[in-house]
Amino acid sequence: MTSRYGRLDRLLARQLVISRAQVRPLLASGRVLLNDRAARHADVRVGPFDSVSVDGAVLQQGMARRYLMLHKPAGIVSATSDPQHRTVMDLVHDSRFAAMADVLHIAGRLDATSTGLMLLTNDGQWSRTLCDPANGLAKYYRVDLARPVTEADVRAFADGMAFPYEGITTRPAGLQPLPGCRARVTLVEGRYHQVRRMFVRCGNQVLALHREAIGPWPLPDDLLPGQVRALADPEQLFHAAARPDPDTGAYEQ
Ligand code: URA
Repeated sequence: MTSRYGRLDRLLARQLVISRAQVRPLLASGRVLLNDRAARHADVRVGPFDSVSVDGAVLQQGMARRYLMLHKPAGIVSATSDPQHRTVMDLVHDSRFAAMADVLHIAGRLDATSTGLMLLTNDGQWSRTLCDPANGLAKYYRVDLARPVTEADVRAFADGMAFPYEGITTRPAGLQPLPGCRARVTLVEGRYHQVRRMFVRCGNQVLALHREAIGPWPLPDDLLPGQVRALADPEQLFHAAARPDPDTGAYEQ
């Protein structure tokens, strides 16, 4: 995949049609502004969200970063387009955010029958940070099951499960039994049908799966199925993640 980030001196040389040797004194003079601050280093990385100007003339207008949250209803496909089914992007197109729909991608899919919180953005670095298991950002699910959870299931989730066909072992996952045939699951990764397959391995079956929260963002009570909203404070991704109340299992709103 080609990176949309490149060195500042290359951008200046290309846009101003000058040599890289000519770029150096230009940078030293302080006439180049990167995001409204004098930029003096040739090798600084510049991406699509950065603005660059020289003597007030704009060479690159930084794109606005976009972050949305969406309450996915059952039956909607987590895809940008689908020949047969309605997609989460169709929901964005039908919302007041329609104008930005074409630049967005999905940060963490849900199965077609799953419901709950999805995040969409045009910021690839942000979504990679969100989805990279190494960053330990928890995704919280509530599941309805065919049978109650057992102590052995809780241990199996915590130990990690091997799926030899894919050559993977799942990272330690949280499994909190709830009254009846319900449970809360906490994952830091998003393998294909992961929650459903882990319960099949336990001899159980997921009847309904709902994502309650991603990291610091709970699904707001007043964001109804099918609704879309701007995500407040996307930088929270880089701070502490929300944790459910250990007694009630609820998230602070
Ligand atoms: N795990 C699943 O099996 N399905 C989802 O939609 C999300 C996590």
